[in-house]
Amino acid sequence: MTIHIGAQKGDIAETVLLPGDPYRAKWAADNFLTKIRLVNETRGMLGFTGDYLGHNVTIQGSGMGMPTLSIYVNELIRDYDAKTLIRIGSCGGMQPEVNVRDVIIAMTASSVSTPSSAIFKELNFAPSADYALLRAAVDAARKRSTPHHVGGIYSSDVFYDERPDLNEQMMRHGILAVEMEAAELYNLALRYNRRALAILTVSDHLTTGEALPSSQREQSFGDMVAIALDAAFSTV
Ligand code: HPA
Repeated sequence: MTIHIGAQKGDIAETVLLPGDPYRAKWAADNFLTKIRLVNETRGMLGFTGDYLGHNVTIQGSGMGMPTLSIYVNELIRDYDAKTLIRIGSCGGMQPEVNVRDVIIAMTASSVSTPSSAIFKELNFAPSADYALLRAAVDAARKRSTPHHVGGIYSSDVFYDERPDLNEQMMRHGILAVEMEAAELYNLALRYNRRALAILTVSDHLTTGEALPSSQREQSFGDMVAIALDAAFSTV
């Protein structure tokens, strides 16, 4: 047990999927895993461990924003020895070719700051995904014919943004989408020599204003979970 995760040490798998929303963790476990066990409910941040085609997998909510994700990922890596960590979440599209429902496979995650900024100080570190995991996710998306884009994303500290000029600079530099967690996931994985990737569904678009209707969110979320599981185990 850790301060924020009530699981026993052996209850967490080496492969962890991290949706922001704890109820999405439950949905993904119910729909993709067998032999499911609830392994964490501290603060309602549900985590489940189960079997996916003979592989042990944990699906643990990470909450919203990098400070919250950092707590869970630090404990998953340092106390439970998680080795492969894949964020599955939503994002806001930023480029004209990025459509609502598309999947984004994030090569890098830019930010204004992360919880790691305190140690990087003057360095503008470039948090990047694990290449083998990224390549496997691209293969999985192609195999499933899921429309997808591979490139940089922006991990913002705010959802209600008072600085539209920052989004404009990100768009100008080819950033595909905005979300709020991936940069710190990548920082931590690189620090502890673990594998990380963020796979995201475009739930809304910053310039067109289009948004995924709630009736279609489940289907899109399912495509992303399938890609994440396929990627996690095709490179092991
Ligand atoms: N901003 C930040 N995070 C998000 C967004 C957004 O527009 N959409 C989904 N996650």
